[in-house]
Amino acid sequence: MAFWPKIRTGSRERVCNPDAVPYAVFENVGLTIGARKVLHGLTLSLSEDRVGVIGLNGSGKSTFVRLLNGLRSPTDGKLTLFGAPSAEAEKELPRHVGFVFQNPDHQAIFPTVEEEIAFGLTQLGADKTASREQARRFLSDHGFGALASSPFAELSEGQKQYVCILAVLVMQPRLLVLDEPMTSLDGLSGRKIREKLMSLPQKIVMISHDLSHFEDFDRVLWLEDGRLRMDGPAAEVLAAYEADIDRRLGAGMEVAAL
Ligand SMILES: Nc1ncnc2c1ncn2[C@@H]1O[C@H](COP(=O)(O)OP(=O)(O)OP(=O)(O)O)[C@@H](O)[C@H]1O
Ligand SMILES: [Mg+2]
Repeated sequence: MAFWPKIRTGSRERVCNPDAVPYAVFENVGLTIGARKVLHGLTLSLSEDRVGVIGLNGSGKSTFVRLLNGLRSPTDGKLTLFGAPSAEAEKELPRHVGFVFQNPDHQAIFPTVEEEIAFGLTQLGADKTASREQARRFLSDHGFGALASSPFAELSEGQKQYVCILAVLVMQPRLLVLDEPMTSLDGLSGRKIREKLMSLPQKIVMISHDLSHFEDFDRVLWLEDGRLRMDGPAAEVLAAYEADIDRRLGAGMEVAAL
């Protein structure tokens, strides 16, 4: 671990405070994309170490977490990230928030696995040679040494997901946002990644349709049609969500319109 470079703070005055608690405060936040209102009246404050996000397809989960790293901006209400208004915090967010995309092909931009990992290290200030060396060591430490020089495009879906998680972890962000990061991982890799995630010092906000991932989480948010349907301790929210799915199945209700 000692080889990881320190995060550069630069001489520019800091706008956001990465250690701010809470790290995100939503005040009546809404988001309209085109003519469509995707998120409505979200009021909540996030400070917990492990926050899960659940909801049916199209309920707004990916859009919601994109607000946390500046990929989306609110069109209504006020969002404060790491103590700063979101519009001011945006430039600094890549240093503080690591984002794992739902689709690995939307995340990876370099031809090989090693280059993908090394890129994060160069972003943090390491020179090119040092970052490649560190990337190789990091990949070996995580059982991916043999695939270091493999083209990303030729990996299996599960391997791609694993590499995308590693590419974010190597940067040691303060907050990790994961959008269904384990859908293609086999049981062994999924367990390994889950144990790794739970052991990290970082705060985590994670979306998953596999509710078992949230058993040890501090809090779960349930989104429905872009609104916060329920927010509370994992066990309570997961039980209510499962009961709602049973009710929908029993009533023969259709899946969410996509
Ligand atoms: N770029 C976009 N343009 C128009 N509508 C969008 C866009 N992105 C998302 N939406 C709409 O916003 C709604 C929420 O989408 P989102 O991707 O956040 O859902 P989700 O809960 O992540 O679903 P899933 O579980 O399928 O990943 C959907 O109705 C979707 O069609
Ligand atoms: Mg999604």
